[in-house]
Amino acid sequence: MAQDFTNEYCMHTATDGQLRPADIGREVTLTGWAWHTRDHGGLIFIDLRDRTGYTQVVVDPDCVTPEDFATAEHLGREYVLKVTGTVRARAAEAVNPNMETGEIEVLASAVEVLNTSVTPPFSIEDGIETDETTRMKWRYLDIRRPEMLSSLTLRHTVAQAMRRALDERGFLEIETPILANSTPEGARDYIVPSRPNPGKFYALPQSPQQFKQMLMCAGVERYYQIARCFRDEDLRADRQPEFTQVDIEMSFVQGDDVMNMMEGVMAEVLKAAGVDDVAFPLQRMPYAESMERFGNDRPDVRFGMELHDITDIVKDTGFKVFSSVAQSGGVVKSINAKGAGDWSRGDVEKLATIAEANGAKGMAWVAFTTGGDEKSPIKKFFTDEEWAALKSAMDVEPGDLLLFAADKPEIANAVLSALRLHMADALDVPRPGHSLLWVVDFPMFKYDEDEKKYAAEHHPFTHVLDDDLDKLETAPLECGSYSYDLVMDGFEVGGGTIRIHNAEEQRRVLRVCGLTDEQIDEKFGHLIHALELGAPPHGGIALGLDRLVMLLAGKDSIRDVIAFPKTSSASDPMTGAPGSVAARQLKEVNLRTL
Ligand code: AMO
Ligand code: AMP
Repeated sequence: MAQDFTNEYCMHTATDGQLRPADIGREVTLTGWAWHTRDHGGLIFIDLRDRTGYTQVVVDPDCVTPEDFATAEHLGREYVLKVTGTVRARAAEAVNPNMETGEIEVLASAVEVLNTSVTPPFSIEDGIETDETTRMKWRYLDIRRPEMLSSLTLRHTVAQAMRRALDERGFLEIETPILANSTPEGARDYIVPSRPNPGKFYALPQSPQQFKQMLMCAGVERYYQIARCFRDEDLRADRQPEFTQVDIEMSFVQGDDVMNMMEGVMAEVLKAAGVDDVAFPLQRMPYAESMERFGNDRPDVRFGMELHDITDIVKDTGFKVFSSVAQSGGVVKSINAKGAGDWSRGDVEKLATIAEANGAKGMAWVAFTTGGDEKSPIKKFFTDEEWAALKSAMDVEPGDLLLFAADKPEIANAVLSALRLHMADALDVPRPGHSLLWVVDFPMFKYDEDEKKYAAEHHPFTHVLDDDLDKLETAPLECGSYSYDLVMDGFEVGGGTIRIHNAEEQRRVLRVCGLTDEQIDEKFGHLIHALELGAPPHGGIALGLDRLVMLLAGKDSIRDVIAFPKTSSASDPMTGAPGSVAARQLKEVNLRTL
């Protein structure tokens, strides 16, 4: 149903998507853009479009002044019009069932051009084949397209539903600074020089993490914010340098409380967005299980093709690639791509580039054709027993293609998780509706091979499992954490943890991350003090609003649900940002460019 926002504060008395047979006989004034104009033997038809939809306007020379008729005859695309007229029923053969206003039209009595338009650089139509940089350069035209306006409307609906649901649960909406100090979320900071403090810089927040913890220390107890976050990281379809989180924090809670609260909020949000196929309570899958079965921590559980560990079956096989990996602590895993058994050898071997891009040294495969043949460069190395055990473990039938990764668990998982998603696309595996689940119990740390140090898997404010605290320093990689990610359709749409509220635990975790006590005092002294001064137990979560809306709108990129996004090189073709600044401005902030 088209929204009716007509009131006394505008020129029009109805919107272009609103009129129905019940309005027949009404005199209305419409405003909008001349979308399509047709001249049919002396009658001029104009599709007049605004945010809500479009209405067919008929200009009949017998019903308007000659001047107005001349105006209608010379309309250009995207002229801005004000039309007054009478709503009438369309002739039976002219009724358009695909159009919300398709049963009526407006017979004009006056047509006024409020503004002209030069020829637009691309058509204002859904599904246009224009490259994205052009769309972004003329973003205000791109947004005039119905699908863009409907995505932004959905974004508004989701944000409003979030606000309403959180407000009902006692959360206060509080803003936190944009000019702040660095807070680690794993990306590079955007930095801003401070003029009154020469040589000093603010960092734009990667998230409001530390501020929301301070608000808990301040006794706010329940906080939320629709917060802009800034991360200088390599951009992808689901990442932007500035993006929006629904950021939430609660006191006196455990992980289950945060997850249960969030499920209640999500149920209301999904309802507002018209999604009714997600059942609550949501599944909670341990991180280790997600890695084992899907090879990543954001499983798309709408289809199978799960990873199977066949290390035991192949540990003594004559195929040395497998047996040597199995005997040196690695794993051999496989997926069964049902329906690809008749692929040509060339097509199968092309898949190796995906495996190699994810760190594999090769990609072994076996094809079981629908005609009953078994094709594979590796079959000859297997004994009959090993071959039978493999086929049984992989539930093989004619028409199947097995793909293998033999490597360290991280690499084998990354390779097969990428191949699984690729094969699901290539084979058009149905992925109906939406899936929502929690992935829980992440490890506390990962080892960063490049930096040669431990880093927090979520962030270093995460509470270590009580049972693991005694091995924090001696076996960091064995420590678990109180953590949970919300995963939708194979995307991480939210992440959160229970926080450290004990100052000494906070120091210990930061030390494991490689900070000296001096660095801890310098960078996190404020947090340590706050924890020493009666910090309540607390925890929270942040949802990626852009990703959530992208999935609900059925889009492939978050750029399609952000009004003014950046390109993959973090620039804005419309305004030209980032731009250069005058030498005087640099001098004012004590900077010189190289
Ligand atoms: P995290 O880093 O997991 O957690 O971020 C939370 C959610 O924000 C979204 N997201 C992004 N969306 C678009 N572009 C990006 N570059 C981007 N980066 C992250 C994701 C992600 O799940 N302070 C913690 C939350 C907490 O512990 O409460 C945090 O920021 O959907
Ligand atoms: P090779 O003996 O190296 O020629 O490899 C034989 C087959 O095993 C080829 O199909 C390779 O792509 C594949 N292969 C090599 N290394 C791996 C690996 N680590 N995991 C899975 N398959 C591999």
